Amino acid sequence: LSVLSVASEAVPLVKTGGLADVAGALPGALAPHDVAMTTLLPGFPSVMAAVKRGKVLHSYDSLLGEPARLIAGQLGAAPLIVLDAPGFFARGGSPYADAGGQDWADNWRRFAAFGRAAADLAGGLVKGRSFDLVHAHDWQAAMALAYLRFAPLAGSAAVPSVMTIHNMAFQGYFGADIFGSLGLPRAAWSIDGVESYGGVGFLKAGMEAASVITTVSPTYAREIREAEFGMGLEGLIQSRGERVRGIVNGIDTGEWNPATDPHIAQTFTARTLAKKAANKRALEAEFTLEPGDGPLFVVVSRLTWQKGIDVLLEVLDHLAGSGGRLALLGSGDQSIVDGLHAAAARHPGRIAVRIGYDEALSHRMQAGGDAILVPSRFEPCGLTQLYGLAYACVPVVARTGGLADTVIDANLAALNAGVATGVQFTGVHYGALTGAIDRAMRLYHTPGAWQMLQRNGMKADFSWTNSGAAYATLYRELTGTQ
Ligand code: ADP
Ligand code: GLC
Repeated sequence: LSVLSVASEAVPLVKTGGLADVAGALPGALAPHDVAMTTLLPGFPSVMAAVKRGKVLHSYDSLLGEPARLIAGQLGAAPLIVLDAPGFFARGGSPYADAGGQDWADNWRRFAAFGRAAADLAGGLVKGRSFDLVHAHDWQAAMALAYLRFAPLAGSAAVPSVMTIHNMAFQGYFGADIFGSLGLPRAAWSIDGVESYGGVGFLKAGMEAASVITTVSPTYAREIREAEFGMGLEGLIQSRGERVRGIVNGIDTGEWNPATDPHIAQTFTARTLAKKAANKRALEAEFTLEPGDGPLFVVVSRLTWQKGIDVLLEVLDHLAGSGGRLALLGSGDQSIVDGLHAAAARHPGRIAVRIGYDEALSHRMQAGGDAILVPSRFEPCGLTQLYGLAYACVPVVARTGGLADTVIDANLAALNAGVATGVQFTGVHYGALTGAIDRAMRLYHTPGAWQMLQRNGMKADFSWTNSGAAYATLYRELTGTQ
């Protein structure tokens, strides 16, 4: 089975969040199931650097107004195709915004072009590269499915498709005036086409066109049926019924394994858990935190409203005042950054922050931290709590989305049954978060309890084995193959 995975990010070439981890790991997760996955990425500078001598598969004189080429490359061991369109993608800043954080004004054209190219590929544009199914990730890839539905390459056969929603909060919503420039027939402008609340909705268009919609955890798949999480598209989700599924993400155990991790001071396993202490000392030194008896909490996160970091700010005095320490790595909203710096200044040696993006440091934090705080208001899956489980960095998480599905709360029953892996709290507000921190502290000081949480977490299997099989089953269902 040959699948075209369409994504705007994939490790190790370009990453702003968990989507990149997932898109990067999927080909390897599917390979054991006889699924050959090719990934299509936009030609951002870091991606182009990896395909410098790649074979040109196709040249467009004009793809939505810019010259473009499709270039072959490798994403690890898997085939990659890159849409080289310098007019769209050869820019500084992030993939979606300029250096000042402002979304690129032509994002609609950039990612419509990306979708157009994906639909062409899926339709058989390049000889010798045919695909049985298209798997699009998030709004940046969603137009692929709209083009396949309304304007497929002439003479091509229909291909089934999967639209995965990694985050309903980002929908790629644009004004109605762009419709005429998309190269779609008038029929596409309808309530079950690309039209959305009077404008053009990229994610919505992909959801309407997809054979099946998936999201990255079963709980989030249920939550987006409600207005609070569905963000305007809850009606569409409800109407798709059984055609909406939740498949929880795995983690790439080649990258995230404390027994072999080259980024950390001291490797360890569940059997040699005591060795983790060396990583804690190293992290304390790196963040100039004073040594202490209490737990060292860590946070690795985008600093945004979704992640509840504004509420975290409110509880930092409590955390530092009751024996906890915090090391935080993140980047995002300036008001949150300012608040974090202020908290660190109030509690030197107890609270320390690093603003920026640092992959290697994120590994050292999971290895050295006692607990990872994830107070998200919503979380489609979440990966940092999964890395925490693997690294004996006990997750303390809000009970929402994938956080609800992947952490087993240390309530009395779960403690007695010996299955707990972390702490969950309900509602992201001061009382709930301080309550969870206090509970984590008590467990930390209860002989045996913390080690049990750590060992259970390390034993839990969040590798791609199960989720890879689930995607493979879905692809076979949609293509009618064995
Ligand atoms: P989201 O995709 O919503 O940001 P996830 O938990 O799914 O949330 O994925 C976040 C990914 O980005 C994880 O791999 C996490 O380790 C990483 N990450 C987030 N912020 C940083 C940072 N400042 N430095 C390094 N890695 C980060
Ligand atoms: C999104 C979500 C996150 C999820 C990631 C990968 O960025 O916010 O919860 O883990 O996608 O699916």
